[in-house]
Amino acid sequence: MKVKANSFAFCGGAFGDEGKGRIVDEYVNHLTKQGKIVVYRDNGGANAGHTVTLPTGERVALHQLPSAMFSPKATVVLGKGMVIHPSDLLTEIEEVRIIAKNQKVATIMIDEMAVLSLDTHRAFEAALKMWQNGSKGSTGRGISPAYADVLLRHPLRMRDLLDFDEKKIQEHYELYAALCKGLGEELADMKVPTLAETGVQQVGSLTEFTTRLQAQATQLRSYIHDVSTMVAETWHDPDCSYVFEKAQAIGLDARWGVYPDVTASNTALDGIYSATEGIIDHHAIAVRAAVIKATYMSSVGTRVLPTMMDEALAIRIREDAHEYGATTKRPRDIAYLDLVALRYYAQVGDINYHVLTHMDISYLDTPIKVCVGYTLNGKKVDYRPDQEYLLKVKPVYKEFAPWSMKDIQAARTYDEIPEPAKIFLAFVAKQLKTKILMITTGPKRDQSIWVRD
Ligand code: IMP
Repeated sequence: MKVKANSFAFCGGAFGDEGKGRIVDEYVNHLTKQGKIVVYRDNGGANAGHTVTLPTGERVALHQLPSAMFSPKATVVLGKGMVIHPSDLLTEIEEVRIIAKNQKVATIMIDEMAVLSLDTHRAFEAALKMWQNGSKGSTGRGISPAYADVLLRHPLRMRDLLDFDEKKIQEHYELYAALCKGLGEELADMKVPTLAETGVQQVGSLTEFTTRLQAQATQLRSYIHDVSTMVAETWHDPDCSYVFEKAQAIGLDARWGVYPDVTASNTALDGIYSATEGIIDHHAIAVRAAVIKATYMSSVGTRVLPTMMDEALAIRIREDAHEYGATTKRPRDIAYLDLVALRYYAQVGDINYHVLTHMDISYLDTPIKVCVGYTLNGKKVDYRPDQEYLLKVKPVYKEFAPWSMKDIQAARTYDEIPEPAKIFLAFVAKQLKTKILMITTGPKRDQSIWVRD
């Protein structure tokens, strides 16, 4: 297979929120100096929160739009594997337009086959959550019901907005009204989260729901295309670079993540193959990078990681690294770096590079603890993506000398980073069996260091 030299994929290597948005934004900025670029997102929906810091210092959280929105030369694709919430997407497009002060932004193309994720899905997910004893599981953005529509053979797709078949919309609404009723809820009365300023939206009657959707369809129509021809042409064009921005992370994948608190989309790179209908084999992508936090891990949801951290240190990290959900604002759980889990995710995800963010989260008074193995009943055991199993294993830790936060934040080249950080990086790369592509040493744009030769 011919590898495309100027192709780069970034996925979450742990449990999400690793800082992918910033990496994609910086990479794209660098690549647009070289010519044409397509930025392709193939999974997830409004559950993602990718934070980008603009040259002005302004921070923008993007949810459904790829992080290259502020690169006017880029074409961003919302691919077939995504579930798209039209009203949240329009809010986001408007926000980007305001922040860009009407200057040109990236060109948006939405695959007509991408699946719709609507207020009906959010309402049903909320009703289901109450029925499941109020588990704090999902982000509440109706992601899994929208994906379930595909498996149950009744999805609504972006192309349904083009011809706006009211009968199909009515059938969809009535199905979800019945599902909610079965769980003791009245769909029309239910309030669901929205990105719009109000924060909540009442689903409303069939007429209200349809009227809203019709107005959104009118606004979105010009973005919806059959993107496969464009993808086939540009992928084989040596002058066009490709960046793939995955959402969520391999640790949240339903096949590879900590089951059952997983998301419904395909979070590993093989999702690119199915979203592009075989045009792009992910093995042909030159850089297949997983983004992880360097000195700790974070997680939101019901999963309990084997390496959960002492709360005093967790609080310190949570405040210093702003570990609160970009979509839900929930405080994130903080855990010691688990190299056993990360190695498994890299292996099942076909990863050849890692990007390590938050290298500055290191305290001179506290050694850096990383998990290098598990035992179960006194015997060494491997990773298995199953919560019940992970509750039973005991992590084996190794400690590393910390480095000064201030010194590493000031470093601008690999040579300038403190010696203990170099020792730590070499150990992590060896354990993960990949190479290190890049590290970040602080939140600012110039606080990223390329390690790849
Ligand atoms: P869902 O994707 O809303 O169905 O949520 C399923 C699980 O994935 C929950 O534990 C969420 O907290 C988690 N999750 C979904 N999206 C993200 C993300 O972007 N970052 C971190 N966790 C996420």
